[in-house]
Amino acid sequence: MTLQDKLLEELRDLYHAEKQLVKALPKMAKASTHEDLRDAFESHLEETREHVTRLEEAFAAMDEKVRAKPCPGMAGIIQEGSEMMQEGEPGSVLDAAIISAAQRVEHYEIGAYGTCAAWARLLRLDDVVTLLEQTLEEEKAADKKLTALAEQEVNLSAASEGMGEEQEMEEEETVSSSRSTGPSSGRSRSASRRQSSSATTSRARAADRRRR
Ligand SMILES: [Fe+2]
Repeated sequence: MTLQDKLLEELRDLYHAEKQLVKALPKMAKASTHEDLRDAFESHLEETREHVTRLEEAFAAMDEKVRAKPCPGMAGIIQEGSEMMQEGEPGSVLDAAIISAAQRVEHYEIGAYGTCAAWARLLRLDDVVTLLEQTLEEEKAADKKLTALAEQEVNLSAASEGMGEEQEMEEEETVSSSRSTGPSSGRSRSASRRQSSSATTSRARAADRRRR
């Protein structure tokens, strides 16, 4: 087997991986409650369709038939993600878990496309290199977007979602006693809830900073 044969095999594996993702991404979008996360999956779905097309163009550039080779690696990652979505309740914790599954997908693809692009460069398959590098850049950008969404929003909401009622009540009491002398003592319960949840968020942010 030559390196070119191996490259072809890997591209067929990726072709199967991308086709599985075209089916999985709408389910991930649907299971997400965070709007930006849903948008991220929907726009990556459009890109993923393009990745399928680029692989078909790469086969053509190599004078090879368009064919998929079963990719159990991606099937396993998608399977884990779909079990998680079936078991979890919609909300920030599930959103955070969906991001973790999606980033595993991206990292698998980044590894595969990175290697294939490097091999194609050595084999002087310039058209193939261009196609693979375009996709590689989009996978990296999708991964970065997910990291930003997780770190700046979703993980923080997830950290506060599991807070016990008792702790929230305690905070509520603190809030209401601290404002009893002020002009805002007539504020509604929902206002104090909002305050309590923002206290939770800032604690989650502080905890997150400590972990870094
Ligand atoms: Fe892709």
